[in-house]
Amino acid sequence: MALLRSVVVGCGAYLPGNVVTNAALAERGIETSDEWIVQRTGIRQRHIAGPDETTSVLGTRAAQAALDEAGLSPADIDLVLCATSTPDYTFPSTATQIQAALGIEGGFAFDLQAVCAGFVYAVATADRFLSTGGAKRALVIGAETFSRLLDWEDRTTCVLFGDGAGAIVLEARENDASNRGVLTSCLRSDGRHRAKLYVDGGPGSTGTTGKLRMEGREVFRFAVGSVTDVIEEVFRASGTTADDLTWFVPHQANRRIIEASADKLGIAREKVVLTVDQHGNTSAASIPLALAAARRDGRIKPGDLVMIEAIGGGFTWGAALIRW
Ligand SMILES: CC(C)(COP(=O)(O)OP(=O)(O)OC[C@H]1O[C@@H](n2cnc3c(N)ncnc32)[C@H](O)[C@@H]1OP(=O)(O)O)[C@@H](O)C(=O)NCCC(=O)NCCS
Repeated sequence: MALLRSVVVGCGAYLPGNVVTNAALAERGIETSDEWIVQRTGIRQRHIAGPDETTSVLGTRAAQAALDEAGLSPADIDLVLCATSTPDYTFPSTATQIQAALGIEGGFAFDLQAVCAGFVYAVATADRFLSTGGAKRALVIGAETFSRLLDWEDRTTCVLFGDGAGAIVLEARENDASNRGVLTSCLRSDGRHRAKLYVDGGPGSTGTTGKLRMEGREVFRFAVGSVTDVIEEVFRASGTTADDLTWFVPHQANRRIIEASADKLGIAREKVVLTVDQHGNTSAASIPLALAAARRDGRIKPGDLVMIEAIGGGFTWGAALIRW
């Protein structure tokens, strides 16, 4: 039997209409400034969801946009995979809510939780189902309402995050000369780092949702120092180098982390897709939001070699190489 590849056939995004600039945060009484936030993180603004814009609402709109680009209808989908740490409910999963909202009655849907690395984990997971015949077409979604987890009294964290959703449609196709699809992926985690980035509540501990807590400097150090191992492994496994990449689409947490990682790996700055200035850190949504932005403005084209990479709480981290 010919090798099955998970080929990207559609990509879409959705952002809440409410845009909050750094200056607007300072005007609301948070002791910060546009200058401090831009200099430390590159963030200029973020989108914040309204009360009715739950994670599944954002995810459904992004999924519909991805289906539209693919020219497919919801009935063509047999796997809905949603990466999120901000589900509408403890259960049922946000993915099943999106499945229902799209009117999909067949197949299966589930959430995947790897915080900011969630989308990379979801791509790797969907690829396993598609490449082994377990599903034919997958909606892989990253959707978050991180604003709901923020302690707005804590200026060291509340200025960093935003809300949004992005999605891709992956289709199982027999490999051909174009060599399109998810070529390889590498996932890692190390739970000893829990206290550096976590939410101080949950259904099994406090019975509350909790708020995000972070040791920013420790996260920064780990992100720049350690997570390039997964990218090097993906290069090794695929027989490619930094020079072969068309685009590097990393998790959008901090411009300084992104540029330091690219420099360390020898990836030219002009190949880096940056949206952190516009969206802030939208956790699992940040990579598909960046992919959709680069698709929309014509940068990413079929045949391009695209590396995605992320690190999140846990720590969890991973990378995947996609021939678009
Ligand atoms: C959070 C982060 C931007 C902080 O930058 P930093 O250079 O490490 O700053 P520090 O935490 O050392 O704080 C420096 C000073 O700025 C102050 N400060 C913190 N947040 C501020 C804010 N929003 N506005 C203004 N000043 C702020 C601090 O209180 C501190 O003041 P002090 O020197 O008087 O004590 C940085 O550590 C970072 O980006 N970490 C990675 C976070 C991340 O990306 N997490 C998600 C990963 S998925």
